[in-house]
Amino acid sequence: MSKIGRNDPCWCGSGKKYKKCHEEFDERIALIKNQGHLVPDHSIIKTPAQIEMIRKSCQVNIAVLDRVAEQIRVGMNTEEIDRIVYETTTKMGGIPAPLHYQGYPKSVCTSINEVVCHGIPSEEMILRDGDIINVDVSTIVDGYFSDSSRMFCMGEVSEEKRKLVQTVKECVELGLQQVKPWGFLGDMGQAVNDHAKANGYSVVREIGGHGVGLAFHEDPWVSYVTKAGEDMLMVPGMIFTIEPMVNMGTHRVVCDKTDGWTVTTADKKPSAQWEIMVLVTEEGHEVLCY
Ligand code: MF3
Ligand code: CO
Repeated sequence: MSKIGRNDPCWCGSGKKYKKCHEEFDERIALIKNQGHLVPDHSIIKTPAQIEMIRKSCQVNIAVLDRVAEQIRVGMNTEEIDRIVYETTTKMGGIPAPLHYQGYPKSVCTSINEVVCHGIPSEEMILRDGDIINVDVSTIVDGYFSDSSRMFCMGEVSEEKRKLVQTVKECVELGLQQVKPWGFLGDMGQAVNDHAKANGYSVVREIGGHGVGLAFHEDPWVSYVTKAGEDMLMVPGMIFTIEPMVNMGTHRVVCDKTDGWTVTTADKKPSAQWEIMVLVTEEGHEVLCY
């Protein structure tokens, strides 16, 4: 980062002089960096104008998930969910972010039971009574990205699986409570992990959350197996996902060698995930997408 003059325009695009805008903010970050912490750089701190555009993308993402929630039912195949996502997104002027992303073939991820994430929709994959499914929707609107996922319980779901689904939702909510400026991502990560562990579950280690907004996956990479006070500093203007994958059995996962995408638990026990997108604000946080 080149040093900017105190009377130069601020890097944030406000048009104000640096000394009247983000100078103090940058000094505070530099101090924390000197204490040995990982800190965000300017590229991942969103401006108010960018946040407005990201909000619009989130509105579409939420509407798409609402549409899925209305229509999902036992007997439906996951290709039909893909069609709902594609059609709702494009009708609203968006593009499904997963489509062709690193070669991914569909518009949405549909992950059933032991599938941890990145399940590929297919006509052969039919929702049965007792299944739990994660539908992970990501949208691009005017070049701005949004990303969130929900769980759905199909018909008569066992008490055991229902509890898993409910607990992961609580994990996300407890993690969210830790999101505030000048705290650390590890504060959130530990809150998520503690609650999962207290319920006898394990948290996936190698797949996590991410910064999002100007791209699908930005820095920071967000872990849910961290400790309070560790990992990256949170500052106003950062946007990232909270999306822990919580397993009933082992934390270990395997990726399907044939399709290159589908991740399942190593012991084939169920896994659940909820994903929200959160903005760090001056006062605390704001959920942008859920
Ligand atoms: N939506 C996933 C996430 O939460 C990413 C899916 S990548 C895809 O980060 F290509 F599989 F869609
Ligand atoms: Co995500």
